[in-house]
Amino acid sequence: MLAVTRLTLNQESALSGVQELPVLGWEIESPRRNVRQTAYRIQVSHEKSFDNILLHSEWQQCEHSNNVTLTELMMTSSQRYFIRVQVRDDQGETSNWSSAAEMISGVLYPHEWLADFISGEKPADKIHSAGTLLRKSFVLNRAEEIQSAFIHVSALGLYELHLNGLKVGEDALTPGWTSYHNHLLYQTYNLTGYLNKGENVLGAITGAGWYKGDMGFSRHRNYYGEQTALISQLIINYKDGTQDIVVSDESWKAHDSAIIFSEIYDGEIYDARREVSGWCEKGFSGDGWRPVSLMTHEKSTLVAQGSNTVRKMEELKPVQMITTPQGDTVIDFGQNLSGWVEFNVRGNAGDKVVLRHFEVLDADGNVYLDNLRTATQRTEYVLKGEGEETWHPHFTWQGFRYVKVEEYPARLDLTNFTAIVLHSAMEQTGYFACSNPQLNQLHHNILWGLKGNFVDVPTDCPQRDERLGWTGDAQIFCRTASYLMQTRNFFAKWLTDLRYDQTPEGGVPHVIPDILTGHCEKDRLLSEGGTHSASAWADAAVINPWTMYLMYGDTKVLENQYASMKGWIDFMTAHAENHIWHYSLQFGDWVALDAKEGSYFGATPNDLTCTAYYAYSTQLFAKTAKVLKRDADFEHYDALHQAIVRRFQEEFFTPSGRLAARTQTAHILALYFNLVPEAFRERTTDTLVELLNEHDGHLVTGFVGTPYFCHALSQNGRIKEAWNLLLKDDFPSWLYQVKAGATTIWEHWDGIKPDGSMWSADMNSFNHYAYGAVGEWLYRVAAGIEADEEHPGFKHFIIKPLTGGGLSWLETRYQSVYGAIGVRWEVSGKEVSLCVKVPANTSATLVLTDGEALLEADGVDFIRNTEGFSAEIGSGEYRLKYHVAD
Ligand code: BGC
Repeated sequence: MLAVTRLTLNQESALSGVQELPVLGWEIESPRRNVRQTAYRIQVSHEKSFDNILLHSEWQQCEHSNNVTLTELMMTSSQRYFIRVQVRDDQGETSNWSSAAEMISGVLYPHEWLADFISGEKPADKIHSAGTLLRKSFVLNRAEEIQSAFIHVSALGLYELHLNGLKVGEDALTPGWTSYHNHLLYQTYNLTGYLNKGENVLGAITGAGWYKGDMGFSRHRNYYGEQTALISQLIINYKDGTQDIVVSDESWKAHDSAIIFSEIYDGEIYDARREVSGWCEKGFSGDGWRPVSLMTHEKSTLVAQGSNTVRKMEELKPVQMITTPQGDTVIDFGQNLSGWVEFNVRGNAGDKVVLRHFEVLDADGNVYLDNLRTATQRTEYVLKGEGEETWHPHFTWQGFRYVKVEEYPARLDLTNFTAIVLHSAMEQTGYFACSNPQLNQLHHNILWGLKGNFVDVPTDCPQRDERLGWTGDAQIFCRTASYLMQTRNFFAKWLTDLRYDQTPEGGVPHVIPDILTGHCEKDRLLSEGGTHSASAWADAAVINPWTMYLMYGDTKVLENQYASMKGWIDFMTAHAENHIWHYSLQFGDWVALDAKEGSYFGATPNDLTCTAYYAYSTQLFAKTAKVLKRDADFEHYDALHQAIVRRFQEEFFTPSGRLAARTQTAHILALYFNLVPEAFRERTTDTLVELLNEHDGHLVTGFVGTPYFCHALSQNGRIKEAWNLLLKDDFPSWLYQVKAGATTIWEHWDGIKPDGSMWSADMNSFNHYAYGAVGEWLYRVAAGIEADEEHPGFKHFIIKPLTGGGLSWLETRYQSVYGAIGVRWEVSGKEVSLCVKVPANTSATLVLTDGEALLEADGVDFIRNTEGFSAEIGSGEYRLKYHVAD
């Protein structure tokens, strides 16, 4: 039976807070093969029952089941909408109505914000990082007539919202980190059913967070402002169509909270003896509470977040307790993660629990804190002494696997400790397993690198005094991240900030949101070289939106980022000389092993890296112009791309085809970015293999070369070498880390050296996703699930598995917006058994690489070609068997 099994709004199952109409997508299921949608219709209602229909579209004769816009719906603020869809297929079968997806509209127009930003702090508090309580009591006489109630909330700083004694929602670290003066997110919560007749109390705790806290590796406070503030607007819709509105204003009152210190890097100090009992409950007197002051912040910067808030995603229990040789008591959670430790404790008033969070034990098995640099990652809880107390921090998070227990007033029982894993809520879309357990662990580590670092912004690392949205890291890892999780909204948010923080000339800051500009006078590198526009880093401006388009087929991100993308290309052009681009401080092939002893800068020359990326980004931008039908731009940038490539070839290749820079990374970039004259492709590939062999099959690449190494080999016929590189397990390699017990990806190949010593503490993160960028090779090449840029979002795609590496089987599932794409292969001698799954309303080109003889075709019409066998297939599951050449 034909059915719509899932309906999404901006690829999410629900949106809480919407300002612009979302795009719709749905998954179709049918027992038939080759199912294509021929028509759909949509209904929208305020009610789940759809008793009253707001919008009922005619049947649209259309094959699209993704990125469908709801153009005719006129939204109003603070309303609930239910949307459902019905489809018809190419056999004339009609589905039932799907179950409904729900969205709540936000505050659609700035003038509808009646609330003000209110602060319970004073200007003198700019040096403090305490939590502040805010409260408002209000009376509702007609509670039984409430139809719905929604609250829209944001803060300068961080906030936790409470209503009638309970925390509202499950989010943490709201409103997240953005370019606050341009773009401040608010969250929307559904309070229907939570309001009482008579007195109600809204409360909030605000904290310093990114807004006014002590941030950045050169440690400055007050990047965005000096006082925390809250804005909240509660809309109560009554059945008779009237509304009550309760807003943050001067009638609110403030008080100090039990959070006496809370900082993102340094943790939290909480004195439970200072808790104000009943502060957010009715009947509370409020005596001694101080007035709040109004703060100014442009309300047009407020934007509904809708989804992807940071929240508790998982819980982990400790795996062991350790007493170190130095006598410290350490709890091991078995997994490097970002989040909090929550504990239960009993003791006397004034007793303390003090925890230090860290990533690794040193060679002797002792607590290793040095790589945290100035971040103390310390939490302190002072007991009130009233039975069992349960606590976790509020306005901070820690990157850790281990916790050193510095104080605990009772016998340590591990069941009292839980690690709460926090990250931006995203649906996991990539699943991988194979016959090689080390490779499975590598995939696990890549996934946890993502979990640990997608905490509202894509951070480089979650533990030391950094945790910044380094553009290079986010660029390198973007494709891998987008196989593993649904990243569309996460990156769309971050790219909005990139756009806002760009320099007027189109330069792209090294970190987004940008807190480096104007604050790096003491930094050895950045004070000399500036804080923006490094090749491969700044190219996130182009590569990330393009990746969103490839993976989700959505042109919205491209449209929103178009001027930003163009700005970046024009910046490079303005600073290029005869198409060779170079500018100020470059990170180059950052932390490559071919760097000079003690240096972070790899051996590949900067003008080569810069010009290679200039060509690549210009090509992607030209493609973007074509997609968006900006014809004049397409012609201009397409010609520019060709000119850069010609110049690259002139400058960096000798007439007989030698690439001037004899580094692995130079060859990888030239091959992967298609900068090699066709006649020299083989020679370039051979030299890359030579360079690999010179290191006994090991990579010596850094941030720039590593992500594409396996691709550069496998795309050029060196499949065996690609697999061997992936599966190397001695130093330096991906599996070396796995063998060393890593549970996430390390920043350095030699984070922990074979002799147990560490890379210098000044920059040695053990949760740095950049090198995890090899993950995309597992999905795109080993499983062979590859996007087709002519039909993005996997409307049509390529399945071209590449067996090898001695693996006897491999299984991957990628949850595309149309449904799950599955690939499973099994190898036995020359025989390959392959199962593939193609979602309804999509199709794929199936390529059996090196296929020599077909044993079972499962009804598929293959043609033989130079690659092996290939066929066009529609939706359905296929089981095939073939022989591969030796
Ligand atoms: C970060 C990197 C980043 C780099 C740029 C480091 O401190 O942790 O991942 O890309 O700086 O140079």
